[in-house]
Amino acid sequence: MGRRSEPKEKTVKSPQPIYISAIGLYVPTRIVTNEDLARSVETSDEWIHSHTGIRERRIADKDEQCSDLAVKAALDLFAKSNRDTGEIDGIVVATATADHYGFPSTACIVAEKLGIKGAAALDIGAGCTGFIYALEVARSMIMSGSMTKALVIGSEKLSDVVNWKDRNTCVLFGDGAGCVLLERTEEQKGIIDSTLHAEGSGSLALAITKDTKTITMEGRAVYAFAVRAIGDTVLELLNRNDLTFADISWVVPHQANRRIIAACSKRYGFEADRFYMNIDRYANTSAASIPIALAEMERRGLLKAGQKILFVGFGAGLTYGGTLIQW
Ligand code: ACO
Repeated sequence: MGRRSEPKEKTVKSPQPIYISAIGLYVPTRIVTNEDLARSVETSDEWIHSHTGIRERRIADKDEQCSDLAVKAALDLFAKSNRDTGEIDGIVVATATADHYGFPSTACIVAEKLGIKGAAALDIGAGCTGFIYALEVARSMIMSGSMTKALVIGSEKLSDVVNWKDRNTCVLFGDGAGCVLLERTEEQKGIIDSTLHAEGSGSLALAITKDTKTITMEGRAVYAFAVRAIGDTVLELLNRNDLTFADISWVVPHQANRRIIAACSKRYGFEADRFYMNIDRYANTSAASIPIALAEMERRGLLKAGQKILFVGFGAGLTYGGTLIQW
């Protein structure tokens, strides 16, 4: 998987901070349990739960596209905030399961379905790190003046690219979408720092190729990479911002496997209970998992002003990265 080069010294210090002003969530209503899967492949609830932490996942209807999930997450955001579509001049969709191969981007379809005219719209492909990349792209575009208020959406219909006969992978994934609104603030809060990395040498360890059209994965190799990627990302963001893990209220990690978080916490000495987990109910929703978790945390009243929160993503590419936020 290649050796990782030393992280570059680069710290994001926005002259005027950019923050998450609203959050939305949508998961399909259809629940598929581990027992349901055990009826079609040789597996069991005991194996899946003990190896991953997953109990069930949401699966979209056949005619429900990635853009539909994204739109429903955005509508949830608008319903819960005093914002409306007319304010939006940027849409960034992180996904590995776009409505169409090639083009148009899912972001353009989302814009049309939401009735948003003339906004910049683009997709980001960075596997399960997609939301972290999308957040940084949108932040940078707001800083440069290309956008002022951006919807950053992680949306995945992974059920379309799962090989439902392969027990090694089909038990791991689910569908869903999460959405945040990113904009400037006069207050001292928002994104403090961000880091993005990729190790292209591991590109085939986790892939949907033109030949297979379904997810293939070297599970053990990805597992080892994930433990290291999370740990290194957390340390990188802590070290260059003069923080310790004790300063962090929550880590919101990409939800791939509960055991990855346990192994990472043990190896790096992080308190595991500070990692927010909901993989038991949604499985791995790739680029959607971090904003879905964030939306849930908001609903549960876990996000409080002044907290320092770390998002950490890792996945196909192999990519990884993180965002440090003052809430
Ligand atoms: N049910 C029952 N048995 C199974 C299943 C299943 N669903 N899947 C695999 N097994 C079997 C294997 O066939 C193997 O049997 P064998 O010993 O007879 O060959 C045995 O269980 C052990 O298989 P391993 O692959 O070694 O199991 P492991 O403990 O490593 O767990 C897992 C597999 C869960 C996939 C783990 O490696 C993992 O989580 N890897 C990381 C996955 C990940 O994070 N992917 C997403 C990244 S994000 C993105 O970008 C999409």
